[in-house]
Amino acid sequence: MQKDGKQINILAIETSCDETAAAVVTNGKIIRSSIVSSQVKLHEAYGGVVPEIASRAHIEKIYPVVQEVLNQANMTKDEIDAIAIANQPGLTVALIVGVTAAKTLAFAWGKPLIAINHIHAHMQAALLEHHEIQLPAAALVVSGGHTSIYDCHDPLAPKLLGHTIDDAAGEAFDKVASMLKLPYPGGPSIEKAAKTGNGKAIRFPRTMLDKDSLNFSFSGIKTAVLYHCQGQDMKGQSLVDKMTSQQIADIAASFQAAVIEVLVKKTKRAVKKTNAKTVLLGGGVAANSQLRQQLQQMCDNQKPAVKLLIAPKKYCTDNAVMVASLAYYKYVKNMFADLALEPKATG
Ligand code: KG4
Ligand code: ZN
Repeated sequence: MQKDGKQINILAIETSCDETAAAVVTNGKIIRSSIVSSQVKLHEAYGGVVPEIASRAHIEKIYPVVQEVLNQANMTKDEIDAIAIANQPGLTVALIVGVTAAKTLAFAWGKPLIAINHIHAHMQAALLEHHEIQLPAAALVVSGGHTSIYDCHDPLAPKLLGHTIDDAAGEAFDKVASMLKLPYPGGPSIEKAAKTGNGKAIRFPRTMLDKDSLNFSFSGIKTAVLYHCQGQDMKGQSLVDKMTSQQIADIAASFQAAVIEVLVKKTKRAVKKTNAKTVLLGGGVAANSQLRQQLQQMCDNQKPAVKLLIAPKKYCTDNAVMVASLAYYKYVKNMFADLALEPKATG
């Protein structure tokens, strides 16, 4: 959709965790430019994101990233119609950098400001390459910070059906990778190691919670892997060092299989509950090929079959394209934020 037949160019900023990202997207679909400045190297030594380090790096990067994204789009500020910002949820000290930058640009350039929920934007990434979506839809967003299932009768107002009550799935991937001494970030490392492993080698727990629950819990499986690696008495600190690469691969594959089984089963429950015709999959863990395949199988097996729309791999992990894309749909409905906008850790 276009307002007055005009092309709407949105400049979006994303700083909710450890990526300083900006993008210019036209009419919610045409990607003019996208930059993701990753801080992986800065956090690697700590095995996870350190908020203060992330915040400082955002401050250093935000201006050059915004400048460069405009250059790459070959646009000036005059061609930008609105500034979008992911203002929640995330690390407050990281969010505040992007929110301040976006408010400053909106004020200085006289452009409307659009506030975007980061998790809703991950969902939107699944729609980037699709023009039609059959509603109702159920959405699974599975990332380093979140594991949530939504009812998307209205994509601009998704209803949360369930979320993790402890660790996010991506966080479990990262922690298990660290136990196995695989490189950070853990998700891609586990996926790589699992390729040569046997997913049935170890029966790790599948926590389903109550019969109808759409909530998740991944702390149990994390502890089970820890006991497996260090022994029930937790005295075997060096067990992993003595393991063969096949044993490591088997643990990675068995862990991955257990997490994916839970994600797929819960999504199936959500499909039944919402009568969904479409399933949307987004977030960093959505880059996992096994998850993509098994969710596809589940959707194909429904009667009638359910359509699965998955975020392109490139836009599964944090980026600003998904933020700009969702912002377009808010723009056409005049859903603007005011300059008092604040970052919010939850959401
Ligand atoms: O969406 P994202 O970039 O950040 C958050 O919003 O949290 O997700 C990052 C998470 C990390 O935990 C990372 O390990 C996980 O996504 N991840 C994966 C894969 N690629 C990234 N997990 C499983 N398999 C992958 N291939
Ligand atoms: Zn994210």
